[in-house]
Amino acid sequence: MTIQPLHQLNVDLGDRSYPIFIGHHILDNHQLISDYIQGSSAVIVSNTTVAPLYLDKVSQALELANIRYDSVILPDGETFKTLASVELIIDTLLKKRHDRKTTLIALGGGVVGDITGFAAAIYQRGVNFIQIPTTLLSQVDSSVGGKTGVNHPSGKNMIGAFYQPQCVIADTHTLETLPDRELSAGLAEVIKYGLIHDEKFFDWLETNIEKLMQKDYQLLSHAILVSCQTKAEIVAIDEKESGIRAILNLGHTFGHAIESAMGYGNWLHGEAVATGMVMALDLSERHHWIGPEVKQRTIQLLKNAHLPVKSPPQISPEQYMDYMSIDKKVDRGVIKFVLLKSLGKAIITADYDSALLTQTLSES
Ligand code: NAD
Ligand code: GLY
Repeated sequence: MTIQPLHQLNVDLGDRSYPIFIGHHILDNHQLISDYIQGSSAVIVSNTTVAPLYLDKVSQALELANIRYDSVILPDGETFKTLASVELIIDTLLKKRHDRKTTLIALGGGVVGDITGFAAAIYQRGVNFIQIPTTLLSQVDSSVGGKTGVNHPSGKNMIGAFYQPQCVIADTHTLETLPDRELSAGLAEVIKYGLIHDEKFFDWLETNIEKLMQKDYQLLSHAILVSCQTKAEIVAIDEKESGIRAILNLGHTFGHAIESAMGYGNWLHGEAVATGMVMALDLSERHHWIGPEVKQRTIQLLKNAHLPVKSPPQISPEQYMDYMSIDKKVDRGVIKFVLLKSLGKAIITADYDSALLTQTLSES
């Protein structure tokens, strides 16, 4: 029996539009993958954790469709989200004579997806790629919208390109093997969508957080669908982040500083975002844009998702300022923040009181 996706939605970007498929066991639907490969060759990029679990499924789909393929298995971890990993992929592409018609397939979490997308963007000035995200975070966020890239020792995601995939295939069955800490990290980004865009979804998350933590697949599919719908809607309006797309970065300016200051990989991206969102809400509250109940409800929801809500005490306000000053939202030397005007409504602003920012940095 062929397993059909439970949900399908589209990212509308004219001739670069693409579908997102969400469902349980949909990786067993071989055609779903092969239908989106235009040439006769492919390279699967994965890592040492995900490849032993799911590489066979993807390879089988390619074999059945007579597609010649190679694979690149990267070491696992945020510390390997580097130009060296991109070079490794390019080395294989060249060594195995892959031409401009080849397709790269990213099989893994956000790290593999971001690296592979960037390699696809630059190999022979751009080849096709497919996202097969296998973490909750990558299914609700990083695989959608075309941000690709790698880290530089001075800052997160400082090298990259906007480059859209041919399709995204999110199989919720892959979450079965996902460690609990990684599930929580994904829920941080899910909660973000409620905060920035959708008060009702935030209420729904408060009601269902325990079942989501227990990996109820029906509820997880719904959470992935709503998250991808929100992201697709925003990306369709502002693909290259010249405006509204920046609201998807709620908590990220503080969070990226935490990730960089603590050493890549020590705090998971989603964990840093969780604490960063509390800091953004704290700053919003200090401006009296939101009442204290919004931050309190968010802290409770994040705690119920087993996420950290306190800034690491070893990062001083000065260190925060250092890291945040190279954030991609810095405009003519001024750091812009994504803050809340109310639950479900985010703004991007440089119009904040820096004395209140200092209080947030020292008291969060
Ligand atoms: P990750 O890719 O490091 O994956 C987390 C861990 O889970 C890794 O050890 C991985 O090997 C393992 N794993 C993956 N799938 C698994 C599975 N099904 N079963 C068992 N283990 C599995 O981390 P992530 O949270 O998926 O992604 C974080 C990265 O995404 C960061 O680099 C962040 O900057 C990036 N990101 C990018 C965007 C974007 O728009 N491009 C958005 C958000 C985050
Ligand atoms: N994760 C933020 C964005 O894709 O814009």
